[in-house]
Amino acid sequence: MTDRRRITIFDTTLRDGEQSPGIALTPDEKVEIALALERLGVDVIEAGFAISSPSDFEGVRAVGEAVVRPTVASFARAREEDLDAAVEALAGARSRTRIHVVLGTSPIHMEHKLGLEPTEVLELARSSVAHVVDRVDEVEFCCEDATRSDPAFVAEVCTAAIEAGASVVNLPDTVGCALPGEYGAFLRDVQERCPALRHVTLSAHCHDDLGLAVANTLAGIEAGATQVECTINGIGERAGNAALEEVVMALRVHERLGYETGIDVGEIGHVSRLVSERTGYVVQPNKAIVGASAFAHEAGIHQDGMLKHPSTYQILDPAELGLETTLPLGKHSGRHAFRKACEEAGIRLSEEELASAFQRFKALAGMRTPVTVHDVLEGVAA
Ligand code: KIV
Ligand code: ZN
Repeated sequence: MTDRRRITIFDTTLRDGEQSPGIALTPDEKVEIALALERLGVDVIEAGFAISSPSDFEGVRAVGEAVVRPTVASFARAREEDLDAAVEALAGARSRTRIHVVLGTSPIHMEHKLGLEPTEVLELARSSVAHVVDRVDEVEFCCEDATRSDPAFVAEVCTAAIEAGASVVNLPDTVGCALPGEYGAFLRDVQERCPALRHVTLSAHCHDDLGLAVANTLAGIEAGATQVECTINGIGERAGNAALEEVVMALRVHERLGYETGIDVGEIGHVSRLVSERTGYVVQPNKAIVGASAFAHEAGIHQDGMLKHPSTYQILDPAELGLETTLPLGKHSGRHAFRKACEEAGIRLSEEELASAFQRFKALAGMRTPVTVHDVLEGVAA
């Protein structure tokens, strides 16, 4: 028997991720990624923002017709035309359907973006949820810019949305301004003020403007969120969203925290590469979990340790994630890794030959990188 708490993984690669500057996925590409996300084991796929373009409408529709297990969601503002477009795009879906309704609750958003008074926002929260509650399986209500909103007002809006039928409430750190302790405290505060939140799913959605999206998401879980919204490779508006692979692996490595997800981590490497290829967003080499250097060891001291035992410098087994450990040769590499690279290339050298090849390697590696054993031996032959 396990008493682990199951965290719902809401993937928004195809909506918030696609909103990254320069990304435009075709409906076919969305389907290809959605099927990979289904194999990865995500619980909810936010497939797009149906009203935003004919291509997005078609993307949501096509994803709904393609996947069978995860819930498929469309994003919508609290406007009837948005909500109706989302309902229509989801009409043929084979799995559960969800509309993710967004409405700003911060003074900044209410005054400058929406031009609405708080009482109007409260009423719009209620009426927009009521407009779709009987037309899809689930309604998620989002208080946009929640972390810059008054918690008492957020609690009132959440109460109204839940009374109207929302079964999921999202309290995002839209502009990525919160610190982990602050985000956790904010979620606790709103839950205390809104007892109805105990009966629905609370969702965390964090942006990476200060590099804290994953830390804030984990703080959100500790503060009671049971759904997290994230993207593959952390793509998303501006600096991006919390990276799915980082949140999932943090929960897995720290299993003592008592959480589990439905993610098949063996699919992580594949989905990461697919999203990078289809979006054109290259993964930075030192990106946690999926960066090309995340399991690469070039320095001699580390290579020596890794050759003795992988646990010396790795907390994860990349093979489990569909990735691999590499020991690239470079300026800081040592004799052990050089010897191993020669052996792997099928090159047999006497101790004396190895010593002189290693000297040559060090001279070459000081000038350029990467260096292969073949570069070194070509030099010897020349
Ligand atoms: O960052 C955000 O606040 C969002 C919501 C509108 C869901 O993407
Ligand atoms: Zn977002």
